[in-house]
Amino acid sequence: MQKESGHLVFGGVDAVELAETYGTPLYVTDEDRVRNNFRRYNSAFETADKYYAVKANGNLAILKILASEGAGADVFSGGELQLVKSAGIPMGKILFNGNSKSEEELRAAVDAGVKVSVDSQDEMRTLSAIAVAMEKEVEIAIRVNPDVSPKVNPKIATGLRESKFGIPFYEVIATCEDAKMLPNITLTGLHCHIGSQILDVSVFREATEKMMNLVEELYARGMELEFVDLGGGLGISHRKEEKAPTPNDLADAILPTFDARLDSLGIKLKLVLEPGRSIVGPATILLSRVNTVKQAYKKFVAIDAGFNLFMRPVMYDAYHEVVVANKLNEQASVLCTVVGPVCESGDILAKDRMLPEVERGDLVAILNAGAYGFSMSSQYNGRPRCAEVLICDGKVDVIRSKESVDDLIRNQVIPPRLM
Ligand code: LLP
Repeated sequence: MQKESGHLVFGGVDAVELAETYGTPLYVTDEDRVRNNFRRYNSAFETADKYYAVKANGNLAILKILASEGAGADVFSGGELQLVKSAGIPMGKILFNGNSKSEEELRAAVDAGVKVSVDSQDEMRTLSAIAVAMEKEVEIAIRVNPDVSPKVNPKIATGLRESKFGIPFYEVIATCEDAKMLPNITLTGLHCHIGSQILDVSVFREATEKMMNLVEELYARGMELEFVDLGGGLGISHRKEEKAPTPNDLADAILPTFDARLDSLGIKLKLVLEPGRSIVGPATILLSRVNTVKQAYKKFVAIDAGFNLFMRPVMYDAYHEVVVANKLNEQASVLCTVVGPVCESGDILAKDRMLPEVERGDLVAILNAGAYGFSMSSQYNGRPRCAEVLICDGKVDVIRSKESVDDLIRNQVIPPRLM
């Protein structure tokens, strides 16, 4: 992020020009950042498989970039499976996750030959029956709920006792024993994911310890595995003073325990990770035009993107830095609250921030918006979704066209009797 003529320059391109050419709101992704973020995982975890968490950002161009870097994928629905197929991610490097998979999704997973992370005994039996009916074999992992607190907003903690995900720690061994008895499924892995936007990596050590306790118990019972998947969750920094851990820090938290436990058992297992946010979050900004500025009981800067396009501040009270992209050289002297156009009081993107004097037509950039941004967007309030562009070597490509009003009505049907 540099300053040139007071304009934000992102990926080497002037944000003001981007907004003029492609309109706003606009998601802008810097390809180099995506690649570099993935490569940091490759150097920190040379031998581990990295299954990119598609839910963070499922744009096909981004999936293609990650496929070219050697990524596998964590998919959470039949739709995400289709996306990674279209992007050419090899089926051997995919784990189909989910706590509520439909039979149709289980069939799609079996048909594609991907591994399935089983979230309950009920699901495991259903999957086995489906594989038998399809005369196919399927590899499974058990999704473990390790009962570890990731010390994050409870809405993005996934391995707490009260979380809906996974099989309770104390039932995992019995579930693995049951898996042995079921036809057409083979248990090859254990899987957990404790939460997201994690800044204290010690919790990954705790999860690793617990998972390796299970591995040890399974081997003592004569069962063998091929991999342990510790999920994603590494946080990114949202405030200047916040220093997020790096993939190297994550490796320091996980690998000594992981490797020592394997050594003491005299076995080799593949480590799998499922990073999402830390790959794509910092690689994207959301550009949004100021529609109006109002001094009411407080000063509101109303922009053309709201929680319809960027849900995180509203849903998780997440802090995202906001800059006025055409006034970077101006003093931040006015306390403002940046709100969207949605008809909800909660549609606040940035509360009580010091910004330069803002006026209609200025351009606001929401930073670190690449993860769970577009992928969680909606058409609420009859607003078609915006476009996405990708920057590489100073060149800009549209990677998703903006929707039109036709897209709002495309699948709606008025019964003839109402015509
Ligand atoms: N693996 C599994 C099984 C997951 O459920 C998730 C995220 C990930 C990997 C990737 O985690 P990451 O590296 O991105 O933290 N919408 C929320 C985040 C929800 C995360 C759900 N699971 C947000 O905007 O903060």
